Amino acid sequence: MNLIAANWKMNKTVKEALKFFNDLNSKTDEFADNEVLICPSFLALSEISKIKHEKIKLGAQNFYFEDSGAYTGETSLLILKGFCEYVLVGHSERRSIFKEPNQLVNKKVLAALNHHFKPILCIGETGDERQKNKTNEVLSQQLKACLKGVSENQIKNLVVAYEPVWAIGTGKNATSAMAQEVHEFIREVLTDMYSQTTARQLKLLYGGSVKPDNAKDLIAQEDINGFLIGGASLEVESFVEIINAAK
Ligand code: 13P
Repeated sequence: MNLIAANWKMNKTVKEALKFFNDLNSKTDEFADNEVLICPSFLALSEISKIKHEKIKLGAQNFYFEDSGAYTGETSLLILKGFCEYVLVGHSERRSIFKEPNQLVNKKVLAALNHHFKPILCIGETGDERQKNKTNEVLSQQLKACLKGVSENQIKNLVVAYEPVWAIGTGKNATSAMAQEVHEFIREVLTDMYSQTTARQLKLLYGGSVKPDNAKDLIAQEDINGFLIGGASLEVESFVEIINAAK
């Protein structure tokens, strides 16, 4: 089963989010047999979680690794408990705009796993790093640093999302061959860190300008097990098209 995840980022008022969710929730019978996940804003997450949603899972876009305390503006996993199953960690926008380094991403991954959330760990190279042939080096460093101290048993609850920074919101997606090559490499690194059996079981998502018209080619690749979608997840129609393309 593929995981088709929507990252709404800082979009949709609570009212708009509720309308989208109710629309989507009424169409779940039309969904291909995939796991579907929505990551709205915190406020919308709180409201959406009150709606009965058997076939749609919920996730948070961010959190802080401490349980409580003097961290103005932050939201902890204790606060999120009961509202969602998944949490995004290490998204490139958090890394570049909010200066989150790998060490902080690692603390968040460990906290999420300890609190029994499913983290979606985002990794990806910049356009400059790709041009300099540093893609594999950067991804391997990110994986090793962000997964430090994560046991083989714990990693089974984690999902990795490969999001090349140059493909996010640009309309320039990685071709299916490029994405497959990187996903295969990620699985090799995870095999070295854990075992082949475990690495094979992990879901590897692709993110970066996924649209209804490129979803089919991308999902046909052996090591692509789903998507993390920004722009195209903001309209019910395009999101459902992607869910159904990813059979
Ligand atoms: P786009 O689909 O808008 O390129 O965004 C991808 C992304 O960052 C999802 O987390």
